Amino acid sequence: MPNLRLARRVGRIQPSATLALTARARALKAEGKDVVALTAGEPDFETPMAIRESAIESLRKGGAVGRYTPVGGTPELVQAVIGKFRRDNALEYRPEQVLVSCGAKHSIFNAIGALVDDGDEVIVPAPYWVSYPEMIRFFGGTPVVVDTSSTGFVLTPEALKRAMTPRTRLVIVNSPSNPTGAVWDRAAQQAIADAVAGTDVAVISDEIYEKLVYGGQHVAFAGLSKDACERTVTVNGVAKAYAMTGWRIGYVGGPAPVVKAMNALQSHSTSNPTTVAQLATLAALQKDPDELPRWRAQYQARRDRMVAGLNAAKGVKCATPGGAFYVFPDCRGWIGKRHGDAVLKDDAAICEALLTRALVGGVPGGEFGAPGFVRFSYAASDAEIGKAIERIQKFASELV
Ligand SMILES: Cc1ncc(COP(=O)(O)O)c(C=O)c1O
Repeated sequence: MPNLRLARRVGRIQPSATLALTARARALKAEGKDVVALTAGEPDFETPMAIRESAIESLRKGGAVGRYTPVGGTPELVQAVIGKFRRDNALEYRPEQVLVSCGAKHSIFNAIGALVDDGDEVIVPAPYWVSYPEMIRFFGGTPVVVDTSSTGFVLTPEALKRAMTPRTRLVIVNSPSNPTGAVWDRAAQQAIADAVAGTDVAVISDEIYEKLVYGGQHVAFAGLSKDACERTVTVNGVAKAYAMTGWRIGYVGGPAPVVKAMNALQSHSTSNPTTVAQLATLAALQKDPDELPRWRAQYQARRDRMVAGLNAAKGVKCATPGGAFYVFPDCRGWIGKRHGDAVLKDDAAICEALLTRALVGGVPGGEFGAPGFVRFSYAASDAEIGKAIERIQKFASELV
C-alpha cells in the first residue's frame, strides 16, 4: 500500500466539533433514543415559501439556472447585496467590493485566505466560533485568543491592545456572537475601531446573526467610520436570518483589493455559488421575509425560557444573551461532581453525560475557547425546549 502523506496544513486543523456532536446526537436519535439535540446552529423554521417559490419558478424556466454565473454572483444579486448593505447598515459598496460565496463560512475562509500569511497573528476574542482558529491555522497564521469571559463576553480595547504585536494582521469581530449570543453595542465596537485606527490591521466583522437581536440594536462595524470601512470585510449571509442553512449563500462587502483576492481564490475553488441558490437569495435580500418578526419574537421567548430554566438548575449560571439563538451557561459549578458513575471532570464530560444520561445535546464550551461552559442552541421547538429544561434540571439535582 502506498504511504500517502497528508499535507502539513491539514494536520493543523480539527474537524468541526459542533458538526461532530450534531451527528452524534442524530445517531442516537436514529437508534430510537428520545434525544433533544440543542447542538446545531440551525433555525428549526422552514425556508419561507416565497423564497422556495422563486427557486421553483427559475428551475421551471430553465436556461440561466443551469449555467455558471460570474464567480462572485450574478450582477442582479450583487446589486441586491449592495442594496441590503445600504438599507440595513448605511454602507455604500461598489460591485467590485462585493463577493457572494457558498455560505458565510466560505466567505470567511476566502477572507482569511486573502489576508493571512505564514506567521501572521490574528486576534480572536474568546469564546469564538469554532471555525475561526482552524481557518487561521490552515492558512499558516497564529490565532491569538483573547478571553472576554470576565468582561461580559465583550472585547475591551485594553485587552485588544495588550494582544497586538507587530505581527498582528487581523482582528475578528462577531456580534451577535456564536456561541455567547452577546451583542456588542456601538461604544464597545467604537473602542475596537479606535484601537486599530492608524495601524495596518484588517477586521473581519462576521454579522451573520444581524437579524436576530432582541431589544438592542445591531451595529455594523464598517459603519462606525470611514477608517473602519476601509479596513473591514463585512460578512453576512442568508442561513440564520432566513432559515436557509442548506442553500449555502454568504456574501461580503469590503475593500476592493481584498475582495479581488478573495474572488481569485474562489475562482479556483468553487467558482460561483450554486445558481439556483443565488436566484432564491435575490428574493430574500430584496425584502426581509414576512416571517422574520414572528420568528424573532419566538426566538426571544425561547431564549427567556431557556435562561430562566437554566438558572433554576443547581450549579448553573446563565447570562441573558442579546442576540443569535444560543445560550452559554457557566457550568463550572458541576465540575468535579458525579452523576451515577460518571465523573464530570470537564465540560466535555458534562456534555457526554448530558447526552447519554439526560438525552440533551449541547456543545462543550472548551470547543469555543471557554472551558466550563456549555452551548445550547434554542433554535428548537417549544416542546423540545421544555423537555430539555426539565431534563437538565433533573440532571443537576442528581449530581453529588
Ligand atoms: C458566527 C458564524 N459565522 C458564520 C457561520 C457560517 O454560516 P453559513 O451557514 O452561511 O456558512 C456560522 C454558522 O454556524 C456562524 O455561527
